[in-house]
Amino acid sequence: MSATALEVPPHEIVVIKPYIRSPDNWKELREQCYSVRIDVFHHEQGFPIEDEIDNLEDVATHFLLRLTSGSDAGKPVGTIRYTKQTSPSTRETYYKLSRFAVLKDYRNYRFGVGLVNALHDYIRTDARKSRNEGSANGNNAPGDQDGFVRVVCHSQIYIKGFYEKIGYEPEGEEFDEDGAPHQKMVLRLPISD
Ligand SMILES: CC(C)(COP(=O)(O)OP(=O)(O)OC[C@H]1O[C@@H](n2cnc3c(N)ncnc32)[C@H](O)[C@@H]1OP(=O)(O)O)[C@@H](O)C(=O)NCCC(=O)NCCS
Repeated sequence: MSATALEVPPHEIVVIKPYIRSPDNWKELREQCYSVRIDVFHHEQGFPIEDEIDNLEDVATHFLLRLTSGSDAGKPVGTIRYTKQTSPSTRETYYKLSRFAVLKDYRNYRFGVGLVNALHDYIRTDARKSRNEGSANGNNAPGDQDGFVRVVCHSQIYIKGFYEKIGYEPEGEEFDEDGAPHQKMVLRLPISD
C-alpha cells in the first residue's frame, strides 16, 4: 500500500521553546520528546541511553508530534529539535537540526516531513527576526546569506535519501558519530516573506 493510501491519524505539532519556559507544561512535553527518542534511538537502534539527553536540551527548540483523537489522544509519536550555532572558524551562524525520530509504528504517514516543515517555518521566522533586528542596528542578520540561511544535520547514511528529497545536499566526507557512519547534509533555506 502506498503512503498516500494510509489513513493518517489526527495529530498536532507542539513547539517547546527554550529560555521562556513556554508553554506552561514545557517540562512534561520535553519528557515526551525524550520518550520518543529513547524508544527509537536506544531501544530500536541500540545507541547508548546515557548519550541521549545532552547539553543542548535547554537551548534547543523542540517539536513534539502527538495524536489528538481516540484512545491514543495525547500519545507522543514524533519529535525533532534545532539549535542556533556559530561556527568557531568562520563565525557563520547556522541552524542545526537533530534528534529527529518517529516511532516505528507511525512511520510513512508523512509525520517526519511534517516535523521538518514545522522546524523550517520556525527557523524562517527566527532568521527574519534576526535580519530585521540586524538592519535596525545597521548590521546584517547573523547567517543571512542573500536571503538564505543554512540548516545543517548529521544524517545517518540510511536516511540520506529522506533529506535529499526535501532539498538537503551532502557536504564533505562520511564520518563516524556515536559509533555509526554519518553524512553532513545542508539546506540553503530561503527566508524571504
Ligand atoms: C527519519 C524518520 C523520522 C522519517 O519519518 P517518517 O514519518 O516515516 O517519514 P515520512 O513519512 O515523512 O517520509 C517522507 C518521505 O521520505 C521518504 N523516506 C522515509 N524514509 C526514507 C529513507 N530511509 N530513505 C529515503 N526516503 C525515505 C518516504 O518514503 C516519504 O517519501 P514520499 O515523499 O515520496 O512519500 C523515521 O524513519 C525515523 O524515525 N527513523 C529512525 C530515526 C532516525 O534514523 N532518525 C534520523 C536521524 S539522522
